[in-house]
Amino acid sequence: MDIFERILANPGPLGQYADQAYGYYMFPKLVGEIGPYMEFQGVSMLNWSLNNYIGLANHPEVRKTDAEAAARWGMAYPMGARMMSGNSDMHEQIDRELAEFVHKEDSVLLNYGYQGVVSIIDAVLDRKDVVVYDEQCHACIIDGLRLHMGKRFVYKHNDMESVEKQLQRATKLSEQTGGGILVITEGVFGMSGVMGNLKGIVELKKKYNFRFLVDDAHGFGTMGATGAGTGEHQGVQDGIDLYFSTFAKSMASIGAFVAADKKICTYLRHNLRSQIFAKSLPMPIVEGALKRLELLRNKPELRQKLWDIVNYLQDGLRARGFNLGVTETPVTPVFLQGGITEAAQITHDLRANFHIFCSIVTYPVVPKGVIMLRIIPTAVHTKEDVDKTLHAFSEVGRKLQAGEYKQEVPAVATPI
Ligand SMILES: Cc1ncc(COP(=O)(O)O)c(C=O)c1O
Repeated sequence: MDIFERILANPGPLGQYADQAYGYYMFPKLVGEIGPYMEFQGVSMLNWSLNNYIGLANHPEVRKTDAEAAARWGMAYPMGARMMSGNSDMHEQIDRELAEFVHKEDSVLLNYGYQGVVSIIDAVLDRKDVVVYDEQCHACIIDGLRLHMGKRFVYKHNDMESVEKQLQRATKLSEQTGGGILVITEGVFGMSGVMGNLKGIVELKKKYNFRFLVDDAHGFGTMGATGAGTGEHQGVQDGIDLYFSTFAKSMASIGAFVAADKKICTYLRHNLRSQIFAKSLPMPIVEGALKRLELLRNKPELRQKLWDIVNYLQDGLRARGFNLGVTETPVTPVFLQGGITEAAQITHDLRANFHIFCSIVTYPVVPKGVIMLRIIPTAVHTKEDVDKTLHAFSEVGRKLQAGEYKQEVPAVATPI
């Protein structure tokens, strides 16, 4: 069979909705300066859908540094992979500063979070090794594991009994193969806001021999006394052997890093295929990352502002009877009952009538019959924004209960 014929006959779980969803539910265009208000289809929307947690995306110092660095360096320098010709003092400086910030000996800058994680998993594992990982791990972890030639055991989401059971199986197997064990989870699960039980897993190091990789994409900059992440928040940063985060959330940029002991970072530098065989990050990205890190470090009031908004929003939603699951982090899911029709209607109602833009998640990401609206508060939102949103959600909740979202979904897609 022709490959193109096959893929066109089965466009995939999201692609099947392309005609009904393009430009509205999927691939919407948010226009204007990044912030709580952006235009969608010509209308100003209160926007709760960006991981600009501490508001750095449009911070004046960040914008200035980005612009001046782009003017000074252009977007090309340095050319080549870091190992070949693409290294610079500033690349080495960000490695050092990130390591210091997350309390590790060293760190390695990565071009992108997704491919960085794939590459870390690939670089540290041998076919004899066994992986134990959370069933809700991000796609980059799952895809990294696709490269692993050895065994992997998945545990029930954040369930410590299940972690231990899988560690017992992994220990038995690794004794036969002569390999080691890598446990992988996330600091903060980006859909539900649930924190990975890093403390519980680190505690298991007393009984089992394993290394621990944490993807803290949503925890870095938001969690912990200094913003150093979920390991700091739970008091177990030392027990994390490989600490990963991306610049795509709190840092409001592109790029990522992995921090670990010095010798392990030296190993990674010489073995991460996503870095050895790819051009290094351009200077404006690196200089911009240094500025963002400086603000993250020196302006704790940004994180405090984020948490003020988070608490005001989550308390307000809970007081109105909404189910937010067990989030303890800025990620704010609102779980409602309904199917795809109600989900589409709610999204449309929020945008068209309340001018509120947030992400909506349906089956298969959440169980059948559940709709999840995901709100991402940031340091640049205000309490008035929250009040407006609480009012809108109360209305939407009332209409859903009254069965007002049963009618056909309006045609809103734009031609691809
Ligand atoms: C948990 C997690 N890990 C990794 C990534 C990938 O990072 P990046 O966007 O830098 O590729 C994301 C999304 O950005 C994420 O949410």
